[in-house]
Amino acid sequence: DKPWTVPALAAAKREGRKLAMLTCYDASFARALEAGGVDLVLVGDSLGMVVQGHHSTLPVTVDHIAYHVACVARGMSRPLLIADLPFQADATPQVALETSTRLLQAGAAMVKLEGAGHKLEVIRYLVEREIPVCAHLGLTPQSVLMLGGYKVQGREEHAAQRLRDDALAVEQAGAAMLVLECVPSSLATAVTSAAGIPTIGIGAGPQCDGQVLVLHDLLGVDSGHRRPKFVKNFLDGAGSIAGAVEAFVSAVHEGRFPEASHSYE
Ligand code: KIV
Ligand code: NA
Repeated sequence: DKPWTVPALAAAKREGRKLAMLTCYDASFARALEAGGVDLVLVGDSLGMVVQGHHSTLPVTVDHIAYHVACVARGMSRPLLIADLPFQADATPQVALETSTRLLQAGAAMVKLEGAGHKLEVIRYLVEREIPVCAHLGLTPQSVLMLGGYKVQGREEHAAQRLRDDALAVEQAGAAMLVLECVPSSLATAVTSAAGIPTIGIGAGPQCDGQVLVLHDLLGVDSGHRRPKFVKNFLDGAGSIAGAVEAFVSAVHEGRFPEASHSYE
């Protein structure tokens, strides 16, 4: 199978092929994810919680992400490798250009950043400089202090309307993909049909163009944090890590995950 490219993402959406994404933090698991047929691999700032043991993603630095990107990049070649811009690494266009350049030089093919608003200018600035960007809307964990916790977003009509507007705005700014986290299924469905770029859901219902899970959640590894309802342990019944990854990939490709029980209304 050919390595994934950024233009191939839009083609997958046009052709209705679902995208399976998992987070990853090291080379050995990267090998397992590639062997299991994962399309997209994210070095998420979730590493602050599942690897470093913090209570939020805020303590994660660009150095941390760059180290894990380099580890993951050594373990795989076919999946598209996406790196999170950690807290404030995207605070201004200039800072975002410097941090994103480091992460691409460490082996990432795309950076992901949270929010719209002033981040639209950041997205435009990066894309104009040939840096592929994935946007992230809905529950944006780097906003936890302002949000007051990890809660479903976009339930009220004004919040839903803002999310629909933001989704079109990040696409307009040049984002090539959009992660939707913890939003009602109906809202994620509306955003997915309005957007020309693929949406990747986590707690965003079954209609997104792809799905992402945190690796530790896929394998049922207890990270000491509350397990949200969108999580499914794919190791249960699979019997091996390779089997769990394959089960996730085929469930996503065939539209069997997530189910209604993993979704919000
Ligand atoms: O950091 C992360 O793992 C993420 C995904 C949950 C989308 O941003
Ligand atoms: Na993240």
